[in-house]
Amino acid sequence: MLAMDLLLKRRSCPRLATPAPDSCELETILQAGLRAPDHGSLQPWRFIVAQGDGLLRLGDIYYQAMQEQGADEAALQKAQNMPQRAPVVISVIASVTKEHKVPELEQVISAGCCVHAMQMAAQAMGYGGVWRTGDLCYNATVEQGLGLAENESLVGFLYIGTPVTEPSAPKTLLVDDFVSHL
Ligand SMILES: Cc1cc2nc3c(=O)[nH]c(=O)nc-3n(C[C@H](O)[C@H](O)[C@H](O)COP(=O)(O)O)c2cc1C
Repeated sequence: MLAMDLLLKRRSCPRLATPAPDSCELETILQAGLRAPDHGSLQPWRFIVAQGDGLLRLGDIYYQAMQEQGADEAALQKAQNMPQRAPVVISVIASVTKEHKVPELEQVISAGCCVHAMQMAAQAMGYGGVWRTGDLCYNATVEQGLGLAENESLVGFLYIGTPVTEPSAPKTLLVDDFVSHL
């Protein structure tokens, strides 16, 4: 895929299935994440890859988080099944260096760029992806279940797989609606 096509036509794919990227492809996708812009070379990120049983474990963490909130059985089942919406889910974590001259916000933005870069890499290889958050992204039980440290937060879950349906062309926004000139 041409770089400009990728940049201009990227789409998210909410419905993803197998085949998943193989281990080599996944490594390349993760490498793309590691090329995110990074003020001060702090590498303020880490990734947790879930596939197969890992998706079940992630579902169990979601289940526990919802159970602690007193969710009903339908909501519990829904949460537990969420990671099954793709064959690979990458939890992307901002690991910030506190009290550093690089503001924490910039470090979290870097981790967000990792998500975007990995989604783009997946799409460049013919796969699809979608960046998801939701309440469970900011839930203390989920953070604990994934082993986050005190200086860490989740910036999202990147779902990756083969698109079940080809996404439609993105709506073209008008540059003039968003840009002014000094
Ligand atoms: C930080 C962030 C969190 C998001 N969380 C969700 C989410 O939880 N569920 C969802 O359906 N889309 C979520 N989205 C939006 C999708 O990733 C996607 O961008 C959106 O569906 C628009 O599709 P497009 O990327 O093809 O334009 C999120 C996007 C961002 C940037």
